[in-house]
Amino acid sequence: MGLDLDEDEGDPGKLEHNANLDDKKNNTEETMERIFIFDTTLRDGEQIPGACLNAREKLEIALQLARLGVDAIEAGFPISSPGDFEAVKAIAEKVKGTTIVALARAVREDIEAAWNAIKGAERSRIHVFLPSSDIHIQKKFGTNREKQLERGLEALKYAKSLCPEIEYSPEDASRTDPEYLVKVVEQVIAAGATVVNIPDTVGYAVPEQFGGLIAYLKQKVSGIDNIVLSVHCHNDLGLATANTLAAVENGARQVECTMNGLGERAGNASLEELVMAIRTRKDYFGYFTEIDHKEIMKTSRLVSRLMGMPVQANKAIVGANAFAHSSGIHQDGILKDRSTYEVIRPEDVGITAHAMVLTARSGRHALKQKISEMGYDLGEQEFEAVYNQFLVVADKKKQVYDEDVAVIVQDIIFADLDHGKLYMLESYKVTTGNGEVPEARVRLRREEVIMEATSQGDGPIDAIFKAIDKVVGAYHKLEDFQVKAVTETKEAMGVATVRVSREDFRALGRGSSTDILKASAKAYVQAINRLYWLLKRNPDDGQ
Ligand code: KIV
Ligand code: ZN
Repeated sequence: MGLDLDEDEGDPGKLEHNANLDDKKNNTEETMERIFIFDTTLRDGEQIPGACLNAREKLEIALQLARLGVDAIEAGFPISSPGDFEAVKAIAEKVKGTTIVALARAVREDIEAAWNAIKGAERSRIHVFLPSSDIHIQKKFGTNREKQLERGLEALKYAKSLCPEIEYSPEDASRTDPEYLVKVVEQVIAAGATVVNIPDTVGYAVPEQFGGLIAYLKQKVSGIDNIVLSVHCHNDLGLATANTLAAVENGARQVECTMNGLGERAGNASLEELVMAIRTRKDYFGYFTEIDHKEIMKTSRLVSRLMGMPVQANKAIVGANAFAHSSGIHQDGILKDRSTYEVIRPEDVGITAHAMVLTARSGRHALKQKISEMGYDLGEQEFEAVYNQFLVVADKKKQVYDEDVAVIVQDIIFADLDHGKLYMLESYKVTTGNGEVPEARVRLRREEVIMEATSQGDGPIDAIFKAIDKVVGAYHKLEDFQVKAVTETKEAMGVATVRVSREDFRALGRGSSTDILKASAKAYVQAINRLYWLLKRNPDDGQ
C-alpha cells in the first residue's frame, strides 16, 4: 500500500512499505494531535564548553526561536551568573508570543532568581529540577527518597506561590525506580505542577523502553491527564530523537530539544529532526507542531555562528550535505523526479536559491528592506555601520547574498557588546612565501594608544596570533580555530571562529571578512577582549 507523504504542498512520492505497518494509524487532519516544542538551546545548549553567548546574542537567538514558532524558550539558568540573569530578563521583556522558561534547582534562591528574571514576560514558567534516581539521591545528595521528595515538593510549592505555570523535572528519571517515579510525579501534580518533564539525563534509555516508561506513567499516575507530560532526551547513545519520538507515541505531548542538537556532552534531541520527522511522517505519527519549518535553516545558521559550533556536513536536515546528491544514479533519479531520493524538499526548511542579490549600487533602501525581512531591527547608527561594511564587501565581492548580509549584521551588532572593546585591530601585514618563515606585523589600538609588534610563526595565521599576544603581553592557548566560507563563490566572505583560553577561562571570538587573515585576526582580538572581560569580572578565579 502507498501513503501520501505531503498532500498539501506537493507530493514527494509514494512510500511502499511493509504491509504489517499499515495498521499503525489512519490519520486525518481532524485526528492529529499537537506536540508542543520546548526549546532549550539557550540553556542546555549553552552549557557546552566555551559557548558563552552575551546578552544581545542570546536575545537575538530567542527572537529567531520565536519567529520559528517554538511554544516555549528555556532562556537560561538565572542563578548561575549575573550575566545569565540579565539575558533571561531581557528575553522575558522583549520576546513575545511564546512562554519564557527559567531553570531553578530545588533551592529558594534559585527559584527567586528565576522568577525575578521572567516575571516581565507575556507568559512565564519556572522549571524546577531535582534528581530522583537512587544513584543521584545517594551519591550527590547523601539523602534518601523520602527526604528528596519532601525537598522537591517544598520547592515546587514555593515556585507555585510566585508563578502559576510550573514545570517539574525529576532529573535522571530514566534511571529512577519506576514505582518511586510514579509517586514523585503523582505528588508534584497534586502540589501544582502544570508540566512534568521526564528527562533521560544521561542518554541511557533506548526507544522501546523509554516509550514503555511513558506508557507506564500514563497508566499509573492519577491526575496525569491534567498536565502536559514532557520528555527531555540526551544523545549519549545517539538515540535522543528516537527516544523522544517513542515517548510521544506513548503519551508525551511536549518535547524538549535544541537547535542543531546542541547540549551537554553529546547534546540533546535535535529540534529540526523532531519537527521534520513529525511533519514528514504525519501519516505514521498523526501529530503536528506549530513550527514554521521554513525558518529552520536560518535558525540553525544563526545558532551555529553565534555559538561557534559548526554543523557537521552530514547532519540530518541542516547539514551542508543533507540535500546534496553525489552518486550518478541518485542524480539521475533526482533529475527525473525529486521524490526518487528526497523525502523532504530543501525549500521546506528554508533553503532557497538566493532570492535577491545585492550589489554596491543597490542602495540604502534595498539593504534596509533585506535586513528587516531577515528579522533584524537595527538602530540608525547600527544600520549606518552595517551599510558601510556592506559597501566594502560589495566592492570586493560584486554580488552580496543573504548569508553575507547576515554575517555583516551579526558582526556589527554582536561585536563586543557587553565585553567592551579593550583592543581593536588597526592593521596587519604578513610576509610569507615558499621556503620563508612567515612574519606578521600587527597594530592594535587600546583606547587612544596604538601598539605594534612583530612575530614569526608556523604559518601566517600563527604569526598573526603570536604578534597579537606580544602586543597584549600575554600568552593565550588556542583551543580551536575554524574558518568557514559563507557562500560558495570564489570571493566568498570568510567567518573565522577562535576559541582561546587563559588560566581557567575560555572565550570565543568571531570575525568576518573577504580576507581570511583579517577575519582570523579580528576573531582572535575579539576572543581576547572577551577573556579580559571575564578575568576582570572574576579576578579571584583567574590570574
Ligand atoms: O538533562 C537534564 O536532566 C536536564 C534537566 C535540568 C531537565 O537538563
Ligand atoms: Zn539536559
